[in-house]
Amino acid sequence: MSRVFVVTSGKGGVGKTTTSAALATGLALKGFKTVVIDFDVGLRNLDLVMGCERRVVFDFVNVIQGEATLNQALIQDKHVANGQLYILAASQTKDKEALKKEGVARVISDLKAMEFDFIICDSPAGIEQGALMAMYFADEAVVVTNPEVSSVRDSDRILGILSSKSQRAESGEEPIREHLLITRYDPARVETGQMISVDDVFDVLKVPVVGVIPESTDVIVASNTGNSVILNPESRAGMAYADTVERLLGTTVPMRFTSVERKQGILGRLFSKKRG
Ligand SMILES: Nc1ncnc2c1ncn2[C@@H]1O[C@H](COP(=O)(O)OP(=O)(O)OP(=O)(O)O)[C@@H](O)[C@H]1O
Ligand SMILES: [Mg+2]
Repeated sequence: MSRVFVVTSGKGGVGKTTTSAALATGLALKGFKTVVIDFDVGLRNLDLVMGCERRVVFDFVNVIQGEATLNQALIQDKHVANGQLYILAASQTKDKEALKKEGVARVISDLKAMEFDFIICDSPAGIEQGALMAMYFADEAVVVTNPEVSSVRDSDRILGILSSKSQRAESGEEPIREHLLITRYDPARVETGQMISVDDVFDVLKVPVVGVIPESTDVIVASNTGNSVILNPESRAGMAYADTVERLLGTTVPMRFTSVERKQGILGRLFSKKRG
């Protein structure tokens, strides 16, 4: 059975595409057959972040409009050696309405028939057609939130839409299972009151926190070179994404990188030695 995920947020630029690429890569590394779909019509960002932009010949809209088959449009990722990761790129058409519900439904159902374990839908910002279609067929949602007021407020809004405008909501099935992912977290700025803490974000949104990704320049380097940050085993952001993948698979993993790590001075080192 395929699990369809939407990675959504409401507010733009919070880390949805970074997250979609990292989670999809992490799931494929674990051996799950995974596809990640870019719903951001007109922008096409996911293929850049995943380093396959030069291999895009056909895209999502081409498949919906019958100009290409799914097999022609799916791009096999070259970073994950087991061949389990595929990308369906967004169209650069200006027509934001190109993602018709029937067409998206057909693509999702064809991907299920191809026995993908995970179908990850990278949503555009806002609540227009692309974002609504990215969430419509979802079984689960990763709501990406930055620890700041405007992002939390927009996540709250998107949670309302998830519970009312999805196929599951319309048909009265079990609701979409929601996970909160806090990205660009900087514990030092939380301490000084410039950012909201994990607990406070949870108190407002009341959605279980599946991960906290630290603010890290590794993410920008990763995007610029087309290698998802999860492929960098030394990166704290990469490690936090790997932990998140484990949690999505049902493993209990403690949160890391959520408090300020103090460098021990000479006195601290002396005393900790004495204490043995
Ligand atoms: N943990 C992080 N640390 C530092 N920078 C990050 C982190 N996560 C994302 N970014 C940066 O934030 C910017 C926006 O990220 P991304 O494109 O993933 O967001 P998005 O939500 O998909 O945006 P949009 O709404 O435009 O689709 C990028 O420059 C990305 O490199
Ligand atoms: Mg994006």
